Order: sequence, then structure tokens, then C-alpha cells
Amino acid sequence: STFEHIIVESKGAVGIIKLNRPKLLNALSFGVFREIAAAVDDLEADDAIGCIVVTGSEKAFAAGADIKEMQPKGFIDMFSEDFAAIGGDRVARCRKPTIAAVSGYALGGGCELAMMCDFIIAADTAKFGQPEITLGTIPGIGGTQRLTRAIGKSKAMDLCLTGRMMDAAEAERSGLVSRIVPADKLMDEVMAAAEKIAAMSRPAAAMAKEAVNRAFETTLAEGMSVERNLFHSTFALEDRSEGMAAFIEKRKPVNKNR
Ligand code: HXC
Repeated sequence: STFEHIIVESKGAVGIIKLNRPKLLNALSFGVFREIAAAVDDLEADDAIGCIVVTGSEKAFAAGADIKEMQPKGFIDMFSEDFAAIGGDRVARCRKPTIAAVSGYALGGGCELAMMCDFIIAADTAKFGQPEITLGTIPGIGGTQRLTRAIGKSKAMDLCLTGRMMDAAEAERSGLVSRIVPADKLMDEVMAAAEKIAAMSRPAAAMAKEAVNRAFETTLAEGMSVERNLFHSTFALEDRSEGMAAFIEKRKPVNKNR
């Protein structure tokens, strides 16, 4: 498919969704969210792809939902279109592993989009925040929910109530991002991680992801039960018997993704 606001490409087994509205710091319009959803559909349906990277430009991952587009809207417009949820939910529902590669601003809907990915690798230039309150609104696609679960109540309240930005070091310290990389090395590091993940057993990766995500949604007892069921399920995978045989035979496993 061809897109207007994003660039989608694949490198080996990694699919890359690059937000491409540089003049507007990748402001997330209705169109951008719709294209992100379509791109995830395409990449998820593509058997060659084992991991998906979502990224922006050097200056901005995304500076939030498109304020100019939102300004004239009323309740019924936002309620009926529910545009941000369409794109965002699609990323969160993706069964293939997803990595957000964040350089520069990840604000408002941009921070929320990054949090919809499985994990965030940040450039040392990254800045995260939920500045919606400065516009008289509040986060609408996870900024009060995923952020609170990721970094705890006190810091989430601080960010959502003051609208301030936190830098990459603070974001790593508080558990929002998994690693910080020098800005000029960001894509190398992200692609290396993505390629590594894409080379794993695909069904095992999907199960690992599903199990970790359950920790976000449910009680410990229920999460443990889901984990155990999925763990037992891996013993039905050819990749599991091959993986263990390869270890014993001191060789690399050959995954069949089944
Ligand atoms: C529309 C935006 C934008 C946005 C930046 N631009 N952010 N346009 N929506 N969210 C535009 C600017 O208007 C400007 O366009 C151009 O991008 C460059 O931005 P500048 O402000 O000139 O750059 P700079 O001075 O470097 O400041 C960067 C910035 C600032 C600190 C990131 O742009 C900023 O504060 N942006 C808004 C951040 C924000 O409030 N995000 C939350 C949005 S609400 P022109 O045409 O003037 O050159 C939200 C709700 C989510 O996300 C809930 C559901 C999705």
C-alpha cells in the first residue's frame, strides 16, 4: 500500500513504520492513525515479518495528536470518530512484537503511541510528556493508564498534572524505557534488537508477549495461570523441541515458526 503520512518499509524480517510529517513534528492526525492501523494490518499479515518498529524523526517521535485538527471539534465528533483509539488499539493489539524507537519529542498522543508498543528504546535526546492539561484536555489513549502502570502513580500524576517533560534518563530510571542509546546509534540498536527478536520462534515470541501483557491487565494469580498454560503450550511447538535439541547438540536452532 502507499501512504501519505507514514513510510513503511521492511528490512529483512523487520517491518518499519516511520511517521513522516516532519514539518509538524509528526503530529498525529486522523489520517496518520488510520495509516498506522493499515500498516500494522499489512505487516501482521506478512509472513516474512517477525518484528515491527515504530519510529519518527530525529527531532520528534511525535509531538502529540494534531492540535489544529482537533481544535474545532466537539464531543460528538471525537466520540463518533474515536480516531486515536482506532490506530492506537491496532498497535496495542498487534500479535507480533513491536518496538518504539524514540528520538526527540514523544508528547501526548506520541508518548501514548510509544507506550502501545511492547517496549521503548530511547535516544538520549528523547523527551516524554503528557502536556494535554496545558491545552485544557487530558490524555485519551493511555496517558493516564499505561503510564501509571509503567512508572507509578506519583510520577504519572506529576507528568499529567504539570504537563512537564521528562528526559531520557528520568524515563529509564522510572521504567518507561528499556534502554537509552546515543541518538546517532538509535536505529542501529533498535534494528539489532528487532532482528534478534524476529529470528526467534514466532509463536514463542507471540506467547511471551501475550503473557507479559497479561501482567498489565489482571491479578497475579490469574496472570500466573495464563503464563503456565502458555508455557505448557510451548511444548506443542516444533521450535521448542528443536531449540532444546540444538542447545544439547551445541548448535544453533532452526526455527520453523510452528
Ligand atoms: C499540531 C504541531 C504539534 C501538534 C507541533 N506542531 N506539535 N501541530 N499538533 N501536536 C507544529 C507547530 O505548530 C509548528 O508548526 C511545527 O509543528 C513545529 O513546532 P514548533 O512548536 O515550532 O517547534 P518547537 O518550538 O521546537 O517546539 C516543539 C514542541 C512544541 C515543544 C514539541 O511544538 C509543542 O509544545 N507541541 C505541542 C505538544 C502538545 O501539546 N502535545 C499534546 C497534544 S494533545 P508551524 O506551522 O507553526 O511551523 C494530545 C491528545 C492525545 O496529544 C489524546 C488522544 C490522541
